[in-house]
Amino acid sequence: MKKHILVVPGDGIGQEVTAVGKKVVEKIAEKFGHEFTYDEALIGHVAIEATGSPLPEETLVKMRASDAVLFGAVGHPKYDNDPTAKVRPEQGLLKMRKELGLYANLRPIKLFDELLGASSIKPEILKGSDILFFRELTGDIYFGEKGRKNDGDTAYDIAEYSRYEVERIARKAFDAAMTRGKKVMSVDKANVLETSRLWRETVQKVAKEYPEVTVEHQFVDSAAMLLIKNPRQFDVVVTANLFGDILTDEASQIAGSMGMLASASIGDSTGVYEPIHGSAHDITGKGLANPMASILSAALMLDISFGLKAESEAIISAVEQTLKAGFRTGDIADASTPKDMILGTDAIGEEILKRI
Ligand SMILES: NC(=O)c1ccc[n+]([C@@H]2O[C@H](COP(=O)([O-])OP(=O)(O)OC[C@H]3O[C@@H](n4cnc5c(N)ncnc54)[C@H](O)[C@@H]3O)[C@@H](O)[C@H]2O)c1
Repeated sequence: MKKHILVVPGDGIGQEVTAVGKKVVEKIAEKFGHEFTYDEALIGHVAIEATGSPLPEETLVKMRASDAVLFGAVGHPKYDNDPTAKVRPEQGLLKMRKELGLYANLRPIKLFDELLGASSIKPEILKGSDILFFRELTGDIYFGEKGRKNDGDTAYDIAEYSRYEVERIARKAFDAAMTRGKKVMSVDKANVLETSRLWRETVQKVAKEYPEVTVEHQFVDSAAMLLIKNPRQFDVVVTANLFGDILTDEASQIAGSMGMLASASIGDSTGVYEPIHGSAHDITGKGLANPMASILSAALMLDISFGLKAESEAIISAVEQTLKAGFRTGDIADASTPKDMILGTDAIGEEILKRI
C-alpha cells in the first residue's frame, strides 16, 4: 500500500516521542511491504518561533495533502505562565481541528495486564477493561455563543447541537461497536438539558440501523461513577464534547499513565493521531518520556486511516511483549521494577522495534 504521512512533532516531548512513533511505522512498512512516504511540518511554539503563527498555512496545506497526520504535542512554559499572550501554541491545535473538520475524538482505554499495578484502581476491578470513547469535538458549549452581561457580572456559554452533528458521531460509534463487543453506551444529561434530549432522540434513531448493537443510555453523573465502579462493563461510549472531555480524563487513569494513551481525531478528511499527553516541560530533553502513547497512536493510524488491522495489531503486540519482558519507562515503573529494566525513550523504542 502507498500512503503519505505528515509527521508533526510540535513541542517538548512531542519531538522525542514522535520520532520513535515514526520509526515504528517505518519498521511496519518494511516488514509488511508498504510504501510510505513522509514529510514534516511545524505547529505550536516551534511554529510561532519560526513563522509567527502557531499553525502556518504551509502546515495546513501539507496536512490536507497527506493521508494521515502523526502528531506530537504543543505547549511551552512561556505561555502557561502568561495568560495574556495573544499568540499561543494551543491555538494551532484548535485551528487544526476546525480546519480539518475533526469532529470525532477516539480514545481507546485498554489496560495491559502487565500494568495492573500502575493504576490507583484495584487490579481485580480493572482487569480486562477495554473501552473505546467517541467524544464529539467540534460542537457543544465550547463553540456556542458566549459572553458577559450586567456590566460583566454575569457570564453565559450556550450549548448547541444539531441533529446532523449527533448523527454523524453516533454512526462512527455504532460502526466501531460492530467490530468490537456490539455495545454502545450513550452518555448525556437528558433529564435536564434540551441538547441532551435531542442527543438521545438522535442516538435512538441511529440505533435502529444497528439491530445487533445493544444500546444503553446513561446520565453523565452516573456514567462517571460506573467508570470507576465497574470499567469492564463498558465497550463503546459516545458522548458530547464537554462530557467527553471530563470522562476521558477520568478514564485515562484506568490505563495507569498518560504516557500509555493514544487518540485519533477523525472527520471527513485527513485523520490526526496523537498521544493524549502534552509537551511535558518537566521532562523535556531528558530522554525520559514514554513513547508508547505515540507508538499506539501510530497503530491507530494504520488501523483507522489505512485499514491495516494486522499491522496495527503487530504494534500493539510488540508493546505488550516489551511490557511482558519487564521493560518499563519511569512513569510506569513501580517499587518492584529492577533499576536496569527502567529505560529511556529511545531504548524502550528499540525494544519495541525488535519485537515487531
Ligand atoms: N494535545 C496537546 O498538545 C496538549 C495536551 C495537554 C497539555 N498540553 C500542553 O502541554 C504543556 C504541559 O502540560 P501538562 O504538564 O499539564 O500536561 P502533560 O501531559 O504535558 O504532563 C503531565 C504530567 O505527565 C507527565 N507525562 C506526560 N506525558 C508523559 C510521557 N509520555 N512519559 C512520561 N511522563 C509523561 C509529565 O512529565 C507531567 O508530569 C502545557 O503547555 C499544556 O498546554 C498540550
